[in-house]
Parts: sequence; structure tokens; C-alpha cells
Amino acid sequence: MNQASSFHYQAETDARQAYDNIHVGKNVILYLDDVSVSFDGFKAINNLNLYIDRGELRCIIGPNGAGKSTMMDIITGKTRPDSGSVFLGQNTDLLKMSEAEIACAGIGRKFQKPTVFESLLVYDNLSLAAAGSKSVFGAYFGKGRQLSAEQNDFLDEVLNTIGLTAYKHRLAGECSHGQKQWLEIGMLLMQKPQLLLIDEPVAGMTHGEIERTAELLIGLAGEHAVVVVEHDMEFVRKIARKVTVLHQGSVLAEGSLTEVQNNPQVIDVYLGGH
Ligand SMILES: Nc1ncnc2c1ncn2[C@@H]1O[C@H](COP(=O)(O)OP(=O)(O)O)[C@@H](O)[C@H]1O
Ligand SMILES: [Mg+2]
Repeated sequence: MNQASSFHYQAETDARQAYDNIHVGKNVILYLDDVSVSFDGFKAINNLNLYIDRGELRCIIGPNGAGKSTMMDIITGKTRPDSGSVFLGQNTDLLKMSEAEIACAGIGRKFQKPTVFESLLVYDNLSLAAAGSKSVFGAYFGKGRQLSAEQNDFLDEVLNTIGLTAYKHRLAGECSHGQKQWLEIGMLLMQKPQLLLIDEPVAGMTHGEIERTAELLIGLAGEHAVVVVEHDMEFVRKIARKVTVLHQGSVLAEGSLTEVQNNPQVIDVYLGGH
């Protein structure tokens, strides 16, 4: 074995070992370990284990009521689990933090419905979202917050990423549904999150917008870990790397889309049922 291939071999071995020890691996950005939560005696999340790597793009699928949104509520501090651990990276115990602290620690969540400020410019929406800005009040009653040159450069970068450079000085309310969804993703990006949680991004989008959203999310992975919950299987097929199937609050299957689609249990509870 020459030096280069020996290096390669070592890297692959390391990667495999990191995967085996994923709950302690440095490469893990998010882990949920043995997490459960009940609502009125009903176990919405049931001994859930989920490990997301830094920069990973993960799709979460599963039938209605599987616990997908509840899982995101737990990660973002909106719902407290009855038991289990939830960590960001190695040391950040999310169960000890408030929703606001979790957001500041680098987890950005996008709900299904776009929630942009329609009466403000695309630019203002992004400048308000800039890391450290809390002044929504200022945007309504004065000019948007004054950004540093560096922040403005970054804002332009984000505009380019979300494909809205030409819309910088348009009202957000004049944007299409898809553009509003991208703008909201842009608002999350302004906060430089390590992890993005995105709930059903393509509901209500045109085919063209779905295509653009796929490119956008694929482009964001690497720099950010991206967890996407989505029902639209055509969209999942476009972006899927590793896919997790949730069912009754637990992981039913995990692997490539082909692997999970061919899993008999998955066919039984989910894909075959439609
Ligand atoms: N706050 C709540 N109170 C009571 N039941 C809830 C609450 N949130 C979710 N549930 C129930 O938990 C289960 C999982 O819901 P959810 O996480 O929304 O599933 P999904 O997003 O996969 O469709 C459902 O049966 C739902 O009715
Ligand atoms: Mg849901």
C-alpha cells in the first residue's frame, strides 16, 4: 500500500469507527438518546434515538402522527421530553436551555408556513434576522437596523444563496410563496446556524420552485447540518442522502432512500399504505 492509499484506508477506518461510536463522535452535531414524551398517556415519542452528523443532509419521513413535529419541538425546546438526552455537539445539553438560548446556540427552525414580514423589504427581513438583532420594533417604526459593512456583505451572500438578489428592494409581500419560503430560510442563515430544521418546505410550491429548493438545501448541507421533514416523495428523492423513517415515535428504518423503500416494515406502515 502506498502512502496515499494507506492514508485513504486509515480515513475510511476512522470514518467507520466514528460511525460505530457515533454517540461520542466529534462529528455528531445533534444527538437524541432514548427520548420519550407522552401527551395524556399517549407516547408521541418513544425511546427515540437520532444522530445527525455535522454538515449532514438528513430527510425524515413517516406517516402523519409519527412524531416528526414533536421531535422538532423537543430539539428546539418547545416541548420537554419526559426522559432521554438531547445534545448539540459534544457538550451543549439542550434540555437545560430555553427556546431562545437554543436558537442562539445555533439551531434554526423553519415552520411549514412562511412567516416573513410582508410589509417590509426583502432586505429588511434579512437585516432584522442578522445575528444579534432583536429589534423587530425598530423595523416597523424606523429604518431597519443599521448593519456593519461586513454584515451587509454577508446579507448579499445570503441573498445570492436563496436566489433573491434581484428582489432585495421588493416588498416581501410581493414575493411568490416559494420565494417567501426561501426568504425565511435566508433569515435563518443570517444567524449562521450549525443546524437547520426544516418542516415540509415544498408544500404548495410549483415544480420549478421545488427544483430550486432541492438545489438550495443540497447547497446548504456541508456548511450546515440540515434536517428536512417532508411528505413529498418526489422531493425527497431529489435530495435524499440518508433517510430516517419515523413511526409511532421511534426510528423504524434508516438508510438510503432505496434501502428504506424496500424495507418490508416501512412498506407495511407507510409507503405501501398510500
Ligand atoms: N401538544 C400536544 N398535545 C397532545 N397531543 C399531541 C401534542 N402534540 C402532538 N400530539 C400528538 O402526538 C402525535 C405525534 O404528532 P406530530 O409530532 O405532530 O406528528 P407528525 O408531525 O409526524 O405528523 C400525534 O398523535 C399528535 O396528535
Ligand atoms: Mg408534523
